[in-house]
Amino acid sequence: MNYTIKPIASTKTYLVRLPVLRKGKAIESCIFDGDDLETTFHLGIYLENELVGVCSFFRNNSKLISAEFQYQLRGMAILETQQGLGLGTIILRHGESILKQQNTPIIWCNAREKAINFYKKMGYNFIGEPFEIKDIGLHYRMYKEL
Ligand SMILES: CC(C)(COP(=O)(O)OP(=O)(O)OC[C@H]1O[C@@H](n2cnc3c(N)ncnc32)[C@H](O)[C@@H]1OP(=O)(O)O)[C@@H](O)C(=O)NCCC(=O)NCCS
Repeated sequence: MNYTIKPIASTKTYLVRLPVLRKGKAIESCIFDGDDLETTFHLGIYLENELVGVCSFFRNNSKLISAEFQYQLRGMAILETQQGLGLGTIILRHGESILKQQNTPIIWCNAREKAINFYKKMGYNFIGEPFEIKDIGLHYRMYKEL
């Protein structure tokens, strides 16, 4: 597959966040707190110059984890027509390798029920109890040592 992964601006992520994660909602719902912090970065995966997937990495500590330096994965999304082709795996691995190079020991995320198998396959484990995120549904906190 002929793909490219690039760092992208937060505003570019909306092109995938909106149809995949905020379907039918206003574009403002795609803006996440901390999107433009210096410690945050966003990656895009392109197929033939079309942005088909995004994910974002925020420096943020989970109270459930003791490491001092942690990153949170947010806005992990692949366009519906391109899901199941391995692109999610490729872009997330890329992000994890950047974090590893920066000596980040832990990455965590709040996983939707539908995405649990994806994260398990990526080597993530559960921590804590499942919880409800308003308007989105049940989530599971998952983490991985890098
Ligand atoms: C979850 C998501 C990012 C995975 O990306 P992807 O490119 O589709 O995943 P991959 O093709 O790399 O799949 C890797 C594994 O994840 C699992 N997986 C992928 N898509 C899945 C789906 N829709 N439902 C259940 N498991 C899935 C499979 O186990 C797959 O392994 P397999 O190919 O050996 O069966 C993508 O499907 C997506 O954007 N889903 C909708 C949004 C979402 O739920 N985001 C996560 C928010 S926490």
